[in-house]
Amino acid sequence: MYFFIDTADTEELSEAFATGLVEGCTTNPSLIAKSGRDIKEVIAEICDMTEGPVSAEVAATDHETMYDEALVLADIADNVVVKLPLTWDGLKTCRSLSNEGIQTNVTLCFSVSQALLAAKAGASYISPFVGRLDDIGENGVDLIGDIRTLYDLHGFETEILAASIRSVEHVEQVALAGADVATIPPKIFNEMIHHSLTDKGLDAFTSDWASTGQSIL
Ligand code: E4P
Repeated sequence: MYFFIDTADTEELSEAFATGLVEGCTTNPSLIAKSGRDIKEVIAEICDMTEGPVSAEVAATDHETMYDEALVLADIADNVVVKLPLTWDGLKTCRSLSNEGIQTNVTLCFSVSQALLAAKAGASYISPFVGRLDDIGENGVDLIGDIRTLYDLHGFETEILAASIRSVEHVEQVALAGADVATIPPKIFNEMIHHSLTDKGLDAFTSDWASTGQSIL
């Protein structure tokens, strides 16, 4: 399973990539707005930080303009993945880009039907939004499992990129449900390492070791 980081903040990304455990990045228009930076500049900088997939989202909603924007984004670097909304225009653009060998991430997925349409449009990644489904009283993790079953049953190669991750438990649950990738906010990624028994155990080992007076080096 791959870990991507869901941010357009290059400082946070730099720290996450330094762990050696992160393979890519996702952004969206809200994250670009939060960064306060120019989309082309920030995507280029992120693509210089990793050889892994970096999702950059189109802003238009009609096929023709989406397609033109997609070509501009894809031209920034070889590892750009063009992110497209789950609309008929988005899927039409996905099909065109897929036919041309450009990587795509179809976003704002909230149902099995939508995931089926994206796979048929040749999407490289489908992004089901786990947290936003939970927000309306549905079970986002169940959707990940259902899409896994669907894609395996029919041999679709579209990768399941679990998005809208809001907690460490979400990461654990989408991993167990069969997601290929989780895109994780930096704060949640940093929380994944913590367990009180790890800290307590390490304190005990450190003080017991000191009492021996030994040195390994
Ligand atoms: C990533 O691709 C999505 O845009 C992101 O995970 C959405 O997360 P949110 O629902 O917390 O905004």
